[in-house]
Amino acid sequence: MRCPNHRLVGRRSVLSCRPSGNMMEVKLVFQIRDRLPVQVLCMSAPLPPGAQHAPATMRNRAPILEVLRTVLPEHGLVLEIASGTGEHASFFAQALPGLVWQPSDPDADCRASITAHAGAAGAGNVLPALDLDVSVPQWQRDVAERHGPVDAALCINLVHITAWTTIDPMMTGVAELLADGGCLLLYGPFRIEGRHTAPSNAAFDTALRTQNPSWGVRNLEDLTDAAASRGLIREQVIAMPANNQMVVYRKR
Ligand SMILES: C[S@@+](CC[C@H](N)C(=O)[O-])C[C@H]1O[C@@H](n2cnc3c(N)ncnc32)[C@H](O)[C@@H]1O
Repeated sequence: MRCPNHRLVGRRSVLSCRPSGNMMEVKLVFQIRDRLPVQVLCMSAPLPPGAQHAPATMRNRAPILEVLRTVLPEHGLVLEIASGTGEHASFFAQALPGLVWQPSDPDADCRASITAHAGAAGAGNVLPALDLDVSVPQWQRDVAERHGPVDAALCINLVHITAWTTIDPMMTGVAELLADGGCLLLYGPFRIEGRHTAPSNAAFDTALRTQNPSWGVRNLEDLTDAAASRGLIREQVIAMPANNQMVVYRKR
């Protein structure tokens, strides 16, 4: 993100970021060479035209990236399902330059936003977003024709806001697309052995089911069974901030 008011020299990291009209208020920590880090700057930078902003992506992207660094290969192709605004795609792709990032979303506005963020970030390893609706049987054909096997598939915050009639074809498609040894990473809130991991997740689950009875916070064991029946074996469950989990399935 570029600051219109400051030429940034030295190391910096984003502390917080929130929308304000069509601007973003960004709080940074700066460190110039061996000087002490300073937490001073608040700046506003316009969202690029067509870009959308999801505040949660600013909170969860760093912890997710830490996991990606340990799980993803150094080089290869990552298919991101349900990329949303595309903020994750640009951030992860920039941080993991050996990978080629294939974002996707069935929503045209989201695909425009993915393009806008990738362009603004100069993330050259983000491919144009694909129009993928993983509830459609054989959705994976288009990806297979373009890329052949993929090294990893990442799906953040989808399975609770969709029905099993989407999750099943998603799993089938991912299992077909993954190269041997490739992994599927699912991030979001999950129940474990039928129990919510926090009261806030239980309330969220109720709200989701009220909105759509086929939605809801999924039981991890149900997802694991669905994955295993397609040859995707659960390898890790990593507790993440805000009562979320990252689940890693490996194609064996
Ligand atoms: C809660 S948002 C999450 C977006 C992004 N992954 C994030 O964490 O910010 C859910 C996304 O899933 C997408 N989506 C909904 N149904 C889908 C489907 N059947 N196949 C693929 N994506 C879908 C929506 O368009 C939306 O962008």
